[in-house]
Amino acid sequence: MVYKQLEQRGMAQPPVNISTLRAMKAAREPIACLTAYDASFACIVDEAGADVVLVGDSLGMVVQGHDTTVPVTVADIVYHTRVVARGLRRAFLMADMPFMSYTTEAQALENAVRLMQEGGAMMVKLEGGRGQVRIVEHLARHDIPVCAHIGLKPQSVHKLGGFRVQGREAAQARQMVDDSKALEDAGADIVLLECVPSEVGKAVRNAVTVPVIGIGAGPEVDGQILVLYDMLGITRGRLPRFVRNFMDGAPTVLAACEAYVRAVRERSYPGPEHCFS
Ligand code: KIV
Repeated sequence: MVYKQLEQRGMAQPPVNISTLRAMKAAREPIACLTAYDASFACIVDEAGADVVLVGDSLGMVVQGHDTTVPVTVADIVYHTRVVARGLRRAFLMADMPFMSYTTEAQALENAVRLMQEGGAMMVKLEGGRGQVRIVEHLARHDIPVCAHIGLKPQSVHKLGGFRVQGREAAQARQMVDDSKALEDAGADIVLLECVPSEVGKAVRNAVTVPVIGIGAGPEVDGQILVLYDMLGITRGRLPRFVRNFMDGAPTVLAACEAYVRAVRERSYPGPEHCFS
């Protein structure tokens, strides 16, 4: 019998797993992440050297044309995860749990299993702070790797009253730090932090031992993620402040993705113009 995992350990660029990401945090080596929704783009993002590829429910907006991520279904994410998986060789594959797909422990487990078994995801991501501790614990108890998404939670857009920077008030910032610790204690393997002042990004990063990936969370987190279509200049209309168009001056999509990975590793992205205070 051939053990693929053991064989891969000897490769020059072995596939990324949770241990790789933890080691990168410990070595203060920035983790470069991007979203992807199909096999062709996944292949390019992987070749560019992205460490993590997320099949985000942002696909509801950038692929399906909705105004929010709310209409995305588990079947949508399973389908896109399955096709993205075919394009990857090295990157770690994470998939989003869509809106209302993790309201009970049993429902969360059933849907996470679908994303892993049918889609090929290696980790699932769900939105929520301490309110999701029970769900994260339940998934972790079943050895399902979990990324906890805090800060701006796009699935809560209608409750929040719009996509806004979170954690500007001291109490809310403290709550985010406490939530990240509670989620880590519950078994979360990664914290993803969206749209917060850089100081909050730094505080959350320092509060937990698991990697903290930021999107609009400033430079002092363990890694960065962007929506692929945003950083390639495909998305139309007004974009969030944290987006940089890496197609500017890049001859190909691959070159743009490589420039992003390089900028994250060298910490030249995000610059002050991409951050919130
Ligand atoms: O759905 C998504 O693409 C995300 C990113 C914004 C991190 O959650």
